[in-house]
Amino acid sequence: MKKILITGGAGFIGSHVVRLFVNKYPEYHIYNLDALTYAGNLENIRDIENKPNYTFVKGDIKDIPFIDSLFEQEKFDAVIHLAAESHVDRSITNPNEFIETNVVGTANLLNAFRDTWKDNFDGKLFYHVSTDEVYGSLGKTGLFKETTSYDPQSPYASSKAASDHFVRAYGNTYGLPFVISNCSNNYGANQFPEKLIPLFIHNIKNNKPLPVYGDGKYTRDWLYVVDHAKAIDEIFHKGKRQDTYNIGGFNEWTNIDLILLLCDLMDGRLKRTKGDSAKLITYVKDRAGHDRRYAIDANKLNKELGWKPSVTFEEGLAKTLDWYLDNEEWLENVTSGAYQEYYKKMYGE
Ligand code: NAD
Ligand code: TYD
Repeated sequence: MKKILITGGAGFIGSHVVRLFVNKYPEYHIYNLDALTYAGNLENIRDIENKPNYTFVKGDIKDIPFIDSLFEQEKFDAVIHLAAESHVDRSITNPNEFIETNVVGTANLLNAFRDTWKDNFDGKLFYHVSTDEVYGSLGKTGLFKETTSYDPQSPYASSKAASDHFVRAYGNTYGLPFVISNCSNNYGANQFPEKLIPLFIHNIKNNKPLPVYGDGKYTRDWLYVVDHAKAIDEIFHKGKRQDTYNIGGFNEWTNIDLILLLCDLMDGRLKRTKGDSAKLITYVKDRAGHDRRYAIDANKLNKELGWKPSVTFEEGLAKTLDWYLDNEEWLENVTSGAYQEYYKKMYGE
């Protein structure tokens, strides 16, 4: 039985990856390593916690003795590494946390994986999950390709870029087998309501202002999280080793157009008069160093592995809104306590 370590599996994307692997591959044993930071939540994977091929391990990738002994004990055949600090605004307030978790934490995993297999890496794999933000910001035209030069602009993007470089360097120096994927903005169930879509759903529901940064004309490419998990599955099994794949939704939106669509869909679901939720839109001070546009060219993944998004944006967004409205308790739980302090610090009252 293959032993696979998935890090960050109690977080947003990680929980979808863990669920897919546990259910689809009963022949693998999936270990989910997560420190359960503010973004980690065991509720996200309640449905699979009793499966025989699943083990949860609470632990921190920054803790070297703990990581080393876990690898020594379990001898993981593969790692799918998602654990990270993931929110740009928090990286502006506290960059060191991002350096420690995303850069040093990744290096700790690489060291432990290398020391476990020394120079016999046959059939082994270190899969590093990264972001399109490593490429920086695009102008009005153009797309990020796998060959685009790195040009990270935020502390978050820089920490992810550095971790990508370490993975490639370990591949080159020690022959460690790796694959990296760089994905665009994800949306879907279980995303912590600090990111645009769940934050705005939460605020619309509660009739709170919708804080639009700057002129609202920043552009992102949005992908349904389940399709990201499916892409990771394809790349894990069939992707070329020592290579990189960009993952994206072929789905660009300016923030303001997306927010107006969200308001419209929420008006329908909450039985409000059309236009009511949009009245909550409030332009606020821009994010420092805000990247203007991200857009991914995911054609390599499509051509080589046949992957493409399985749902349209309309379908994905409908599923997402319904999930947040049907799971009020989840949203209430994650927005109590420390979230209140975060919100006040970020947005005022
Ligand atoms: P998230 O913040 O929702 O979850 C991160 C998870 O990692 C949490 O469960 C947290 O408890 C865990 N974690 C954090 N620090 C840890 C540590 N020191 N040790 C162990 N566990 C720790 O993040 P997400 O949005 O699910 O992103 C997952 C990965 O995907 C990240 O590497 C991120 O850079 C990447 N990514 C995210 C997006 C996106 O749109 N969210 C897009 C592309 C790539
Ligand atoms: P976010 O979800 O934080 O993802 P990222 O910064 O990684 O792209 O933000 C998506 C876009 O929405 C980004 O351009 C910033 C903007 N935004 C707002 O306008 N207001 C907000 O309150 C948040 C959280 C984001």
